[in-house]
Parts: sequence; structure tokens; C-alpha cells
Amino acid sequence: MTLSNSGVSPTWKLFKNSTQLAEHATLDILNAASVSIKNNGAFHIVLAGGTTPRNVYKLLAQATSDWQHWHIYLGDERCLAVDDGERNSVMANECLLQHVSIPETQIHFIPSELGPEKAAYAYKDTLSAVEEFDMVLLGMGEDGHTASLFPGHIHDPQQLTHAVFDAPKPPAERVSLSSACLSNNANLLIFITGHSKHERVIDWISGVSMPVSTIKSKNKAAVYCDHSAWLGET
Ligand code: 6PG
Repeated sequence: MTLSNSGVSPTWKLFKNSTQLAEHATLDILNAASVSIKNNGAFHIVLAGGTTPRNVYKLLAQATSDWQHWHIYLGDERCLAVDDGERNSVMANECLLQHVSIPETQIHFIPSELGPEKAAYAYKDTLSAVEEFDMVLLGMGEDGHTASLFPGHIHDPQQLTHAVFDAPKPPAERVSLSSACLSNNANLLIFITGHSKHERVIDWISGVSMPVSTIKSKNKAAVYCDHSAWLGET
């Protein structure tokens, strides 16, 4: 995997509510999968953590796709026990992966139960086998973080993964893909919903730099934002 933070910045698309956003995003993901599988025989997708993508994953779980050609990665993981309900892997399993027939060997979770450093080191090997992600899904926190890349945290930009020890969003210990690794994609989709994200949306479009705004795409990038986050509607 070659790293670079050059690339295209996202365009913004607004949706009346999170339901319409999730429906549109689901169709985009299924289309991207169809094109990748048709052209390359595989679809390598990085799943976002947190709560925003849950509705998208639940809609995907009801859809039809060539699941046997999907390859799953996570943008970040919390350092918790394998079966802890707060893990992104558990959320992805519950909402999507246990409902579709993606081969187990093609689901690449971050072994964060090993702790930040060991897990970040181990996941680097997994990621180095991927030339470029076909799609990367991300969320954004109220402080402008994405994956587990938090404002004010300094990381080696040449790394594929980062061990995180002092995340302001619990748990403190996490593993994150780097900005450059997340930017190595053909299709970037960032989901932002809810009025709690409004201030950072305004900051972002006003040119304030934050971790989420460092993520680019080699080809196509979009931020899907609902009216609550865009207008600050409650
Ligand atoms: C995590 C996520 C994180 C998330 C944002 C938004 O592990 O916490 O990867 O980056 O995407 O915090 O979270 P919500 O979607 O819950 O608002």
C-alpha cells in the first residue's frame, strides 16, 4: 500500500433526515461494490465505527450483493474485549456481518484486545496486502475527529496504523488507521448526522482544519450530512 495525503476533498450532499441519508448511502455502497466486483473481482471496504453508520449497515444487511467478494476492514477499533458491546466489530457484526455471507477469512477485524501497540503492529500486515481501498466509510465526532484520529494528537504520517492511548472519547486506548491510509481509497463517504455535529460542520466548511478534513480520496469523495447537522436543527 502506497501512502499519500494528496487527493480530492469531498463534495457535500445534504439530506432532510438521517433516514434518507442512510437509504441513499446504502445504494451508493451497493453500486460501488457492484462496479468493483465487476471490474476487479473484489470489493475492499473500510467500515466506520460509532453509531451513525448503524442504519446504513442494517439496510445493507437486507440487500442483495455478491457478498462472497466483499473484504471488510475497520477504520478504527476500541481496545476492549472481543465480545464487548462497545467494540466497532461487535456493532458491525450485529448490524451487518452476521446477516450476510461474507467469508470469515475476508473479514479483517483489528485485534485491539491485544492492546494499542500490538494491535496496531499486527494490523499493519493486514493492510499492507491491500493496494487501495475500493471504499472508505467514516463518521465525524463533535470535535472533528474521525476513526480514532483526534484533534491535537501527533502521529507519524508515514504509518498505516496508530496506537492511541489518550483518546478523549472513551475508551482511551484505541487503534486507528492513519490519515494517509484512510485516504488511499477510490471512494470516500463520510456520514454526519445530528445537531451535535453542527458547530464542527460550520468549522469544516469555514476552512478550519481538523482530523476528518485531512482524509482525501484518489477518485471520489462525499460528505453526506443531514439538515440537523447542517442547519443545527434540533
Ligand atoms: C469510534 C468511531 C468514531 C466515530 C465518531 C462519530 O470508534 O468512536 O470510529 O470515529 O465515527 O466518533 O461517532 P457517532 O457516529 O457515534 O456520532
